[in-house]
Amino acid sequence: MTEAHDHKVWSAVDEYFSTQLLPADPILDAALRDSEKAGLPPVQVSPLQGRLLQLLAGVRGAQRILEIGTLGGYSTIFLARALPPEGRLITLELSPVNAAVARTNLARAGFAANVEVRVGQALHSLAALEQERAGPFDVVFIDADKPNNPAYLEASVRLARPGTLIIADNVVRSGAVTHAGSNNPSVVGIRRFCEIVGHHPRLSATALQTVGIKGHDGFLLAVVQG
Ligand code: DHB
Ligand code: MG
Repeated sequence: MTEAHDHKVWSAVDEYFSTQLLPADPILDAALRDSEKAGLPPVQVSPLQGRLLQLLAGVRGAQRILEIGTLGGYSTIFLARALPPEGRLITLELSPVNAAVARTNLARAGFAANVEVRVGQALHSLAALEQERAGPFDVVFIDADKPNNPAYLEASVRLARPGTLIIADNVVRSGAVTHAGSNNPSVVGIRRFCEIVGHHPRLSATALQTVGIKGHDGFLLAVVQG
């Protein structure tokens, strides 16, 4: 079997479950359309992955969510949908162009008041959040530049509480996570991130491989212990 064949099957299965399980959603459709129109790279989570984020945040009973890497706010909408009416989400984005697209998408989804998009280097924004004592967050979703994942993880734990769920996207990278000799900065960052999580005295973690319209990738899920 070729990889192209595999991808076709994975996509068909994604299509099947999306049709069966996800309602028509003009707000999410508009978010994708406007992200594409603005030239943002189409690397947002898939619809089924977005729903997974929403369900996990809902199961966690999240009232405060932190997202590192906003892009056009597509995953942000899913996460925000898990919040109660008074809940709050802060999402960090380097690009002012992406942030503007995200703000429009979030406003259309009804989250102008609950969601704050902070523009700038996420490491700076995270330091500011610590200074402001903005935590603890109940759920953290890490989905930004992968070389900084180790630093994002450490900051996330400092902004967490016992029970906080930390989710990281793109930890499989078509299997490249296993390439010990890689000098690809994203692979190096993800591998170091996984190593830190695995040795962290306060984290209990697993990783979930995924296939679908985004190919072969996966999530790392970690819960902060008391
Ligand atoms: C890329 C980034 C992502 O967060 C993702 O899910 C897929 C691809 C990228 O930058 O290529
Ligand atoms: Mg991603």
